Amino acid sequence: MDSILVTGNGPLSGQIPIAGAKNACLTLMPATLLSDEPLTLTNAPRLSDIRTMTLLLQSLGAEVQALNDGQVLALSSHALTSTRAEYDIVRKMRASILVLGPLLARHGEAQVSLPGGCAIGARPVDLHLRAMEALGAEMDLRDGYVHAKAPAGGLRGGVVRFPLVSVGATENALMAAVLARGTTVLENAAREPEIVDLAQCLRKMGARIEGEGTSRIEIEGVDRLGGATHRVVTDRIELGTYMLAPAICGGEVECLGGRIDLLQAFCEKLDEAGISVEETATGLKVARKNGRVRAVNVVTEPFPGFPTDLQAQMMALLCTAEGDSVLEEKIFENRFMHAPELMRMGARIDVHGGTARVRGVDALRGAPVMATDLRASVSLILAGLAAEGETVVSRVYHLDRGYEHVVRKLRGVGAKIERIKGE
Ligand code: UD1
Repeated sequence: MDSILVTGNGPLSGQIPIAGAKNACLTLMPATLLSDEPLTLTNAPRLSDIRTMTLLLQSLGAEVQALNDGQVLALSSHALTSTRAEYDIVRKMRASILVLGPLLARHGEAQVSLPGGCAIGARPVDLHLRAMEALGAEMDLRDGYVHAKAPAGGLRGGVVRFPLVSVGATENALMAAVLARGTTVLENAAREPEIVDLAQCLRKMGARIEGEGTSRIEIEGVDRLGGATHRVVTDRIELGTYMLAPAICGGEVECLGGRIDLLQAFCEKLDEAGISVEETATGLKVARKNGRVRAVNVVTEPFPGFPTDLQAQMMALLCTAEGDSVLEEKIFENRFMHAPELMRMGARIDVHGGTARVRGVDALRGAPVMATDLRASVSLILAGLAAEGETVVSRVYHLDRGYEHVVRKLRGVGAKIERIKGE
């Protein structure tokens, strides 16, 4: 297994290009199942999760071609051969559940393996299933699979009231509703930029949707959808991650393609911590020129709140802040697995349930550490960049799921980082 060697090396400077959003691409790709005409996605990130979704769609009979070094995905679902998402693929990636809505909407049935447990908590799919039921589908759980069947004549519009905000369930419901008969209203819908991106793409395909980006989305079902070409929105989590690199190491870095509106709550916290963020014509310029970072308190929330997917990286910053910071994780249970690893590097962190108190230390020291999930792995790299000495991060396959060319991007701004090939 490969690992990453990072050596603390002082201030960073230069530019980092930000890729298209993994999480947007993972919901845009299954949208191909809704139409027999081609869907072309540009600005796609080159990641193992995207390859997993490619395999899943191909297993259903869709054609997926990666062009232009993987940045363009040409998808077509004119002749599907299966409506069954097998366990072998679904277990690798929870987002596989996103084929459920489109398969049901266009083909009247779907069998999707239950995703199973996950390193960051139980993560059930009940909200996805309830949304499909609200559109008239019959759901049955058998042999580890969800067996879903639309009524004769197809799904029909309905009111879906989500008891809690779920990004994936909102996406699934949206994709199911675009081909349902009549009007669907999604209440307490997620407002993430990835949902807005999906709605915009579906609209290009001919869907009738209003209210994306608010908590009430209204969809008027249409008989069929056509093809479209769509550019995947910027990855706000990759953006936030790289904004933290100069915040932790000092220096000034411009994140190309970055926008404050994608990360308002996060940018406010950086400001509170004493990091300057400036919008430029080409992206966001982030700088920490003098002095130590100030401690700040963070609570993760659905968009537009502080994203849970940046909590681990923010913790890496706060380890060397002046004073005590409290991080409260409100979205996922068990999402502090990076804390003991950061403590191996000299951080002082107390975790109680969903709350972590970080007592700022003067400096971290390099150590061998282990990546436990996608965002945790990159938080350890960030911490390593600022630590004294060498840090070796093992199990970096987690990283490959969500960060393309991480070594190249960080080297481009002066970081000392390399990938070490394992057996
Ligand atoms: C998506 C993102 C993930 C991010 C998360 C929260 C993708 C591919 N992944 O995940 O990176 O961390 O949003 O911003 O886009 N829940 C239920 N029942 C359900 C579904 C969710 O109880 O049926 C709970 C979850 O356990 C969690 C909360 O709802 O506590 C929010 O999860 P959700 O927004 O659904 O996350 P994902 O869509 O899985």
